Amino acid sequence: MSLHIAAKPGEVAERILLPGDPLRAKWVAENFLTDPVQYNSVRNMFGYTGSYKGERVSVQGSGMGLPSISIYVHELFTEYNVQRAIRIGTCGAIQDETKVGDLILALSASTDSAVNRRATNGLDFAPHCDFHLLKSAYEVAKKFRVHVGGVSSMDQFYDTTDALTKLREYNVLALEMEASALYTLAARFKRQALAVLTVSDHVITHEAMDATSRERTLKEMVEVGLEALIS
Ligand code: HPA
Repeated sequence: MSLHIAAKPGEVAERILLPGDPLRAKWVAENFLTDPVQYNSVRNMFGYTGSYKGERVSVQGSGMGLPSISIYVHELFTEYNVQRAIRIGTCGAIQDETKVGDLILALSASTDSAVNRRATNGLDFAPHCDFHLLKSAYEVAKKFRVHVGGVSSMDQFYDTTDALTKLREYNVLALEMEASALYTLAARFKRQALAVLTVSDHVITHEAMDATSRERTLKEMVEVGLEALIS
């Protein structure tokens, strides 16, 4: 047991999907995994272990924001020997070519959060995904509409600064709130990580996803995440 995860050692698989929403973890476990067993309900941050195509995998809610995902990923890496972690979640696009309903594989994850600067004592560390996971995910995702590039993990969903203008200028594809912390922890503990995202809204045009595309893209994202996880 760790502070925030009630699983016994061995109950969490070495390969894990990390949706932000714990109810999405439940939905993935019930719809994509064989014989899922729930190992965590502390703070209602549900976690399950089952199998996908015969391989043992887990799915664990991470919560929203860099501090929340940092807690779960730290404990998964240090107390449960997790080797591969793939975030699945939504993002807000900021470029013209990134459309609502598209998939984004986050090659790198910049941030305005202090966590990385604190981790490296002020150095501008560049958090990036694992190449093998990215390559495997892309092989599956290329049958959908997919972009590979930088995202930015923001501290504030309702940001009032001019960050958006700058990030757009530097060709950042989309905003979300967790990938950077995941990539930094993966680097520190020498684990493999990737964020597979669907564009749920466009931050500039304010276009948002309808219920039908939400369902379709969610399934695409889970398929890409699970296939990369077992690759
Ligand atoms: N900002 C941050 N995270 C997000 C957004 C956004 O606009 N949309 C979906 N996740």
